[in-house]
Amino acid sequence: MEQIQPNGIIGSATVRVDGLAKVTGQAKYGAEHHLPNLAHAYLALSPIARGRIRRIDETAARAIPGVLDILTYRNVGTAVKAGKHIIDGGYMAQSVAPLGSDRIEFAGQIVAVAIAETPEIAKDAAGKLRFEFRAEEPAGRFDDAGAVVVKAKALGETELKAGNVSQGLADAHTIVEGWYETPPQVQNPLEMFQATCAWQGDELTVWESSQNVRGFQYGLAKQLGIPPAKVRIVSPFIGGAFGSRGELGQYTALIALASRRLGRPVKLESSREQCFFLKTFRAETRQHLRVGADADGHLTAIVHESWEMTSRADRFAVAGSESTARLYKCGNVDVRVHNVSADRQSPGFMRAPPETPYLFAMESAMDELAHKLRIDPAELRRRNDTMVEAATNKPYTSRSLVQCIDKGAELFGWSERDPRPGSMRDGNDLVGWGMASAFYPTQVGPALCRVTLTPDLCATVEVGTHEIGTGIRTVIAQTAADLLGLSLDRITVRIGDSTLPAGPMSAGSNSTASVCSVVGKACESLRRRLAVEAVYRKGGALYGAKSKEVRLRAGNVVGATGSEPLADLVQRVGLGKPLVEEGRNSPHGAPPLIGPWLISRGKPILLGGSRLKDRMQFAHGAHYLEVRIDRSTGMVRVSRMVGVFAAGRIMNRMTAHSQLVGGQVWGISSALHESAEVDPVLARYANSTLAEYHVPVNADIPAIETIMLDEVDTEVNPLGIKGLGELGVTGVNAAIANAVFHATGIRVRKLPIRQGSLL
Ligand code: MOS
Repeated sequence: MEQIQPNGIIGSATVRVDGLAKVTGQAKYGAEHHLPNLAHAYLALSPIARGRIRRIDETAARAIPGVLDILTYRNVGTAVKAGKHIIDGGYMAQSVAPLGSDRIEFAGQIVAVAIAETPEIAKDAAGKLRFEFRAEEPAGRFDDAGAVVVKAKALGETELKAGNVSQGLADAHTIVEGWYETPPQVQNPLEMFQATCAWQGDELTVWESSQNVRGFQYGLAKQLGIPPAKVRIVSPFIGGAFGSRGELGQYTALIALASRRLGRPVKLESSREQCFFLKTFRAETRQHLRVGADADGHLTAIVHESWEMTSRADRFAVAGSESTARLYKCGNVDVRVHNVSADRQSPGFMRAPPETPYLFAMESAMDELAHKLRIDPAELRRRNDTMVEAATNKPYTSRSLVQCIDKGAELFGWSERDPRPGSMRDGNDLVGWGMASAFYPTQVGPALCRVTLTPDLCATVEVGTHEIGTGIRTVIAQTAADLLGLSLDRITVRIGDSTLPAGPMSAGSNSTASVCSVVGKACESLRRRLAVEAVYRKGGALYGAKSKEVRLRAGNVVGATGSEPLADLVQRVGLGKPLVEEGRNSPHGAPPLIGPWLISRGKPILLGGSRLKDRMQFAHGAHYLEVRIDRSTGMVRVSRMVGVFAAGRIMNRMTAHSQLVGGQVWGISSALHESAEVDPVLARYANSTLAEYHVPVNADIPAIETIMLDEVDTEVNPLGIKGLGELGVTGVNAAIANAVFHATGIRVRKLPIRQGSLL
């Protein structure tokens, strides 16, 4: 693939262009958009997980002065359509119709919306609604009577068979076999779920933090039965998402309906507790894994069968074994994923959805194998490295796993490790060293963009992507500044609006690669137009130069024969008007983009994650860490952590570093802290507050070292970007479990690891 050669701004550790706006309160997040005559909404959620609403008494609620309206299934019904679940080609987190009937399918389902003059009155009114339910006994967990195994649905493959696993197992010198369990987890972004809806005639504007403005636009239009062109979603800043804001919740269309009924704008703000129920979650998994290896540690077979929780209405699995079984060289593979349907909300994406739970099993098994074979765990992984994936025989576009493993070992001092479990003690602490690989697929979505360059040398880049916290405005500005030869302060970036040229859902670590590819293309088109003008103008300094070699540098158009001021050329080519270039990119066999919107085959492209059909494209990494376990209490702490990553071109070393560290921290969280506890009787979360749903605080996080290796990839996209937003979290949970084994000799196969795990 033809590569773009950057000039130094791309790749530099540039401070966020929107950083000042963020820390001074000028950046407006979802609920901070104030409109005149605003009414306020508050939700009432079902306390039961299964049954019917028998009676609703609204008397006390309606008697409160300032109450404007109350929505229930009785006055909504079919006024809002259900919408399809995202896995079925729709846009919804849940396919249950919002206030569509008296039927309750999961705890936390919306049962009413109270609308009032102030948020306080709305909350008061929602609390004074009296519901009588006819509750049925719910099944909320894998083993509850009524939980049913069903065929899984996933974005990727739920089954992969290659080679001959019976032969592979028969050939094995050592087989590791185990059941692994990961808990339900909830994304819990800092910014809670909200929506503000306002109508102007038949046109709806929604201010809601979204990873997917174009999808929200289409989904809401469907739910409300109006054309997509009548819906606009505005989402310039997002206080975290982690997968929770890719799909529409049940509330947005209800707030739009409330606004239409009242003829006033309506704002919804939910509580932290409600956020546990309003969108999706990382489903709990159960995994049975068998890995065989010969005496030298070469893998001979991987058999991985797993079960993932889902709702009654929707089947959804993240299905990670299809990739974890191909991380190392092994031609004999048999993996299969099932869903288990129960009385729960539908699960969804949460940071590195497939790799986080599935690498836990795979990388724990690798450690166990290393221990049994008396091979160093890092060495075992080196021995199973490959540049051609073995099950389907696809070459990697680039792969620096071993480089990450080697660099990490060196930085951590891994060679000092005594392999015997329990051998490294320090006073009252058991000390353990563990490691694991990290990996995440490189995905590039189709995207459109518009770049406008004015004669006074200011550029505006417009693209419908989202600032989910990663710093996307900054890397877009860097890309444009670098390729147009302008300083960063001359670039304005407009994102987060469904009226902009469409970008894909900001998910799957695709944004930097998707968006910088299309912005790069548009800038290249602008350069070409200017270059052609320069080289064909008789008497000009660049007359006769090769237009291909002409570059835009520091406000000049530069060629082998000389240079001209960029401003003069923009003036001449545009006849005094701004130059506008529309970029369009449809990578790796993604369906072609049609028209000005991101439409393909009549549908907007949402899950922009195309990969080359005949290649494996992944970013890699290696984690090394130390745990200390208090022998009196069994408390596990991570005391030291090193992560080394290779993810193609790093667009901004500062923001990339932040993404990776955030992932590493979340990895500690996923191993030692987070678990949504499902009440065995009520089938609802028993710890739906941040006081009881544990997340790490500063005292839980050690000094973390985060290193990015240089890696060149000329196949994934024109700038060689692999994406790394989700890479850092993958594998940490296994590295911690492996360190715990090294410290104690106890192999914990169920997360989170708590004091009780080691008794
Ligand atoms: Mo991410 S879970 O792909 O938003």
